[in-house]
Formats: sequence, structure tokens, C-alpha cells
Amino acid sequence: MKEEQQPLHHHHHHQRRVTTKKLTKPTAYVILLLLSYALGYLSAPSFNSANPSSPRIPQATTITSATKSEFDQFRVTAQCADPVPSKLVRQTILDRLFNGTSPFDDFPPAHVSSLLRPKRIKGWGSNGAVFENLIRKVKPRTIIEVGTFLGASAIHMAELTRSLGLKTQILCLDDFRGWPGFRDRFRDIAMVNGDVMLLYQFMQNVVHVNMTEWVLPVPFSSGSGLVKLCEWGVLGDLIEVDAGHDFHSAWSDISRAYRILRPGGVIFGHDYFTAADNKGVRRAVDLFAKLNGLRVQLDGQHWVIDSA
Ligand SMILES: C[S@@+](CC[C@H](N)C(=O)[O-])C[C@H]1O[C@@H](n2cnc3c(N)ncnc32)[C@H](O)[C@@H]1O
Ligand SMILES: *[C@@H]1O[C@H](CO)[C@@H](O)[C@H](O)[C@H]1NC(C)=O
Ligand SMILES: *[C@@H]1O[C@H](CO)[C@@H](O)[C@H](O)[C@H]1NC(C)=O
Repeated sequence: MKEEQQPLHHHHHHQRRVTTKKLTKPTAYVILLLLSYALGYLSAPSFNSANPSSPRIPQATTITSATKSEFDQFRVTAQCADPVPSKLVRQTILDRLFNGTSPFDDFPPAHVSSLLRPKRIKGWGSNGAVFENLIRKVKPRTIIEVGTFLGASAIHMAELTRSLGLKTQILCLDDFRGWPGFRDRFRDIAMVNGDVMLLYQFMQNVVHVNMTEWVLPVPFSSGSGLVKLCEWGVLGDLIEVDAGHDFHSAWSDISRAYRILRPGGVIFGHDYFTAADNKGVRRAVDLFAKLNGLRVQLDGQHWVIDSA
């Protein structure tokens, strides 16, 4: 995904510069965009009933002012349950998701083992210095990763925590579906009746590095997964966001993930500089920081928000 974005970056340099020039006030633009969605959302029932077949797209240019309550539409406000103590996080996930047993028990099952490679790890910037910098600083007991793919960054973090003598659980929230067309580049990830073996290959990779005690898959969409972790009181000391790279995905992942960040923890993510969706990740991160009075720091390709 990001691999494809690198060439895009080069070939469309001119186009990107023009776009940037037009939007001399990117923040104002994003707020207008958000507001247009808010108003569209609020007025949806009326125009839908009037003309259900062609909902009107709200025009940002017709909006002249924004009230605080309109911006509040975008805040994730629900309260999370009381935090589960760090040492009970793994058992909580096992109980809630896996009927109390480890998904790694008796893995891989016979019908799957021939479809897997002993080790198939590929990531993007998954070994960047940011991981060691933040793990040394935060000394996390719980890491939540949103967007895992084959586990490159998760396994790197597991190896770092092990070498630092930390007892860190790493929860890997991913639907393990990749993205439409990802097998064009990952043909060796088997597909069975339309079901790709990403979850299994990720788990096999974790087995290969003997990290099954420290890494758990949370195989759901980032939206429903982050909502449930909040309801269960499962918080992260360190949270990495690396799932969808369009504005709306990044915005909702960051908003929901921040809510389950333990006070004083650090949230960070990849691809601050990616061109995808008109710099969707960067727009989401900057807007989130701005609306919440937080500071965005950079470490290589990664953005970092320290809540301390
Ligand atoms: C760029 S890859 C993650 C790479 C990984 N962090 C690494 O460094 O190797 C993005 C992942 O996000 C997952 N993803 C994208 N949108 C998602 C969503 N809405 N819910 C859950 N997972 C999602 C995809 O399945 C994919 O595995
Ligand atoms: C869940 O675990 C219990 C034992 O703890 C077992 O009796 C039950 O069959 C399991 N349910 C499923 C759906 O695996
Ligand atoms: C794998 O890790 C476990 C602890 O989780 C340890 O007891 C075991 O010796 C390790 N095995 C190998 C081959 O390193």
C-alpha cells in the first residue's frame, strides 16, 4: 500500500504542489470539509426523504460559520470502563474474544499448515528508530497496534520489549484483510474461497519468533475493536496507528485510539508524509492535535503525540 504511494509521491510532484498552493490555509480547509460533513449528516433525513435517490452533496462554500456544538459532532466522547490492570489485559482479551484459551494453542491446524510459509514478514518502516525511542521512554506494559498486516512492526516491538526485559503484551488490532488488491503484491498469501490467510500467516510469524505469550491478534475492524477495548477498559500505554491511510480512517482510528490511551501514554503512527488522500493522515493528525490542544512531534516518517 505504502510501497505504491512512494512512486506516486515522485510522479505527481507537480500536481501535489499545485494542490498545496491552492489550499493556503489547510486547517481551515479541513475544518470546512468536516463541517460540510456535519451539516450533511445533520440534514440527511430531510433531503433523503425529499429525494432518496440523489442525496445532495453539501457545498463547503455555503458555510459561513461554525459553532462549538457542530464541531462536537466529531468528538469521540463515550467514557471507557475502569481500566483493567496491566497484568490482566491478556486474560481479558482471551476471555472476551477466544473463550478463555490462546488462539495459538494447537496452531496451525492441519488443514491450514500447508497454506502457510514458516516465516513471511514484510512491512513498511516497521523497524524505524521511533519504536525503540518510544519503548525505551514509555516502558509500556500494554501496546496496542492498529494495523498489523504480517506483523513486521509488532514483532519488532516484541523483540525490543523482550531485549529491554519488559513484560509487555502487544495487542494487534487488524481485520487481517489487507486492502482490496493487496494480493497483486502478495500472491504467496494463500486465498481459500475468497478468504485470505493473513491472520494465519501473521500468527505463524509470531510462532516463528516464539512470541506467542506476548502478542495477541484482535481480528476485527479498527472501529468496532477500539470501541470494545474502551468498553472493556483495556488501555494502551503505547498505541501505534497504521491502518487506513485516508483522512476518515485515520481520523476515526486516532480519535478512538486516543480514548484508550493510558494517561501519560504515547500515541504514534506511520506515514505522516504520505500523499494518499491529499495527505489524509497528516490532515487527520494535525486536526486532532489542534482540536485537543496537543503537540505533534515527528520521528522519521512517524508522527508522535505524547499525552504526558
Ligand atoms: C500498512 S498495513 C500495517 C503494516 C504494519 N504496521 C507493519 O509495519 O508491518 C495496514 C493494515 O491495516 C489493516 N486495516 C486497514 N483498514 C482497517 C480497518 N478499518 N480495520 C482493521 N484493520 C484495517 C489492513 O488489514 C492492513 O493489514
Ligand atoms: C468454551 O470453553 C468451555 C470450557 O471453558 C467449553 O466447555 C466450551 O465448549 C467452549 N466453547 C466453545 C464455543 O468453544
Ligand atoms: C519460547 O519462549 C518461552 C517463553 O515464552 C520460553 O520458555 C522458551 O524457552 C522459548 N523457546 C525458544 C525455542 O526460544
